[in-house]
Amino acid sequence: MNLIFLGPPGAGKGTLADLASAEMGIPHVSTGEIFRSAIKNGTELGKKVKAIIDSGSLVPDEDTIALVREKLASPELGSGWILDGFPRTVPQAQALEGLAEYRGAVNFEIGNEEVVKRLSGRRVCRGCSRNYHVDFMPPRKEGLCDACGGELYIREDDREGPIRKRLEVYRAQTEPLIAYFRQRGKLIDVDARPAPDKVMDALRAALKKD
Ligand code: AP5
Repeated sequence: MNLIFLGPPGAGKGTLADLASAEMGIPHVSTGEIFRSAIKNGTELGKKVKAIIDSGSLVPDEDTIALVREKLASPELGSGWILDGFPRTVPQAQALEGLAEYRGAVNFEIGNEEVVKRLSGRRVCRGCSRNYHVDFMPPRKEGLCDACGGELYIREDDREGPIRKRLEVYRAQTEPLIAYFRQRGKLIDVDARPAPDKVMDALRAALKKD
C-alpha cells in the first residue's frame, strides 16, 4: 500500500509513520529525515539545504521532487511506502501523479497550540533519529535514547522563531493540498490530538472504511 502523510509540523506524522510502517511492513520515507541526514553527512545537498531547513522555510520544489523521484525508483520501496512530508506544495503533488499511484493522503488534524507544545518539547536521538517528548513521550533516562543510548538533541527548527515560520509556510503552501486531495477523493481525515496508539486505531479504522 502507498500512503501519503499530510499535516502541520508536529502533528505526529513521523511518530505515526513509524507505528504504521512496523504494523503494515512498508517503509517510512521522510523527506525531512533525508535532508537532515544529508546535513549530518556534509553532502552537497546537505550544504545547500541547511540554512533553509533551520529557518523553517521549504526546500525548492525541484530539489525535493528530484530526491523523491530517485527514492521511489529504489527496489526496497517495491512493496509500498509511507511518504511523510511529501508532497508539501501543489507542484510537488502534481509531480507525484506522474511518479506513482497511491491509496490516499492521510490528513492529521491538529491546532496550532497543540503543535507548539509538541514541537517545543521534542527531543531527537543523534544516533538513530528516534523522537521523544519531554512530557508526552519521555525517554527512560533523561537525555538518552531508549533504543540506542544516543544523545538527545533539540532540532534547530524546533526553536520559537522557526516553529512560527513553519506554521505560516504550512498554512500558505501545504494546507491547499487538503482541497487538492479531497477533490480527487483521496483525502483521509484523522484526528491527531489523542495519544499515538489512539491515533493509530483511528488510522486503521479509516483505512478499513476507505
Ligand atoms: P519534516 O522533518 O518533515 O518536519 P515537519 O513536517 O515540520 O514535521 P515534524 O517532523 O516537525 O513533525 P511530525 O508531524 O513528524 O511530528 P512528530 O511525529 O515528530 O521537515 C523538516 C524540514 O525539511 C521542513 O521544514 C522543510 O524545510 C524540509 N522539507 C521536508 N520535506 C519537504 C518537502 N516535501 N518540500 C520542501 N521542503 C521539505 O511529533 C512531534 C512531537 O510530538 C514529538 O516530540 C513526538 O514525541 C510528539 N508526539 C507525536 N505524536 C503525539 C501524540 N499523539 N500525542 C502527544 N505527543 C505526540
